Amino acid sequence: MRVTEISMPPNIALIKYMGKKDEAKNIPSNASLSYALGNLKSTVRLTNLENEIDHDEWDNQSQLSEIEKTRFIHHLNFLRKYFNIQQYFEISSNNNFPAGCGLASSASSFAALTKCAITAFGVKISISEMAALSRQGSGSSCRSFFSPWALWKNETVEAINLPYQNLIHHVIVVSNSKKDISSSEAHRRVQTSLLFPGRDKRAELRLEYLLQSFEDKDWAKSYKILWQEFWDMHALFETAEESFGYLLPDTLFVLNYLRNYWISYQDGPLVTMDAGPNIHVLFREDQFEQVEKIKQFFESKFLVL
Ligand code: PMV
Repeated sequence: MRVTEISMPPNIALIKYMGKKDEAKNIPSNASLSYALGNLKSTVRLTNLENEIDHDEWDNQSQLSEIEKTRFIHHLNFLRKYFNIQQYFEISSNNNFPAGCGLASSASSFAALTKCAITAFGVKISISEMAALSRQGSGSSCRSFFSPWALWKNETVEAINLPYQNLIHHVIVVSNSKKDISSSEAHRRVQTSLLFPGRDKRAELRLEYLLQSFEDKDWAKSYKILWQEFWDMHALFETAEESFGYLLPDTLFVLNYLRNYWISYQDGPLVTMDAGPNIHVLFREDQFEQVEKIKQFFESKFLVL
């Protein structure tokens, strides 16, 4: 029995992909920049079923919800059709972190599914082609193919060489319950916000300033840009015609602590958020004492990954 297993990391966007120019192909409204979260991973295992079986089956250990399972099969069918392959599989998908609460599990699981299926099909294609196919299943998954930095614009995603290659990442998990509004729904609804026109320009200008601040090693500037960027995305959510949001009281508690930390020490972690209530922090390697201090503070209240 042939078994193929692939693990891929999630990625956190520092400049966010929010809104689509083309919904069918997952073409983003603006360019985005991400950092791969090397300590976290999704693992997909595909076990070839006998030739006469004409549907996929699920391993009962898989952590996906029914909706996620449907999206997985849909993507697998798309890949089978694209490569003209008839093989069906028993599918297993697991993460070493909580899924569906804004920790980018769809990025890592779709990247893992795409790479695993293409490997199981025995097809040889470039990483860029794989990333482009993965994008059709989940937009942000295309960035998980490039580590640590990925830059995605329109149909092109590529690695980008930036000074910080070994950032220390943690996520302060204030809630791990599944989110009510999926990112697909968020991409649709933000287009109804009066703040949406101009969002592409703001994001791309911030991207330019952020890349410059990394080149200049101006960490405080990078922190400010990231702060403005995640609030921009959450403001789009809150000001959509049918408003929605992910922030919880504890989210604001954590954000206030981190902002006050920066005010007191004139240094601290980069702070960002995904479409969820949890807070991502990224430290430079030389900030290991701050990592311990901040981790210790939050670990008494929340799960810190
Ligand atoms: O890839 P999707 O459709 O799940 O969209 C992800 C969008 C955000 O995670 C909110 C931002 C991003 O750039 O990853």
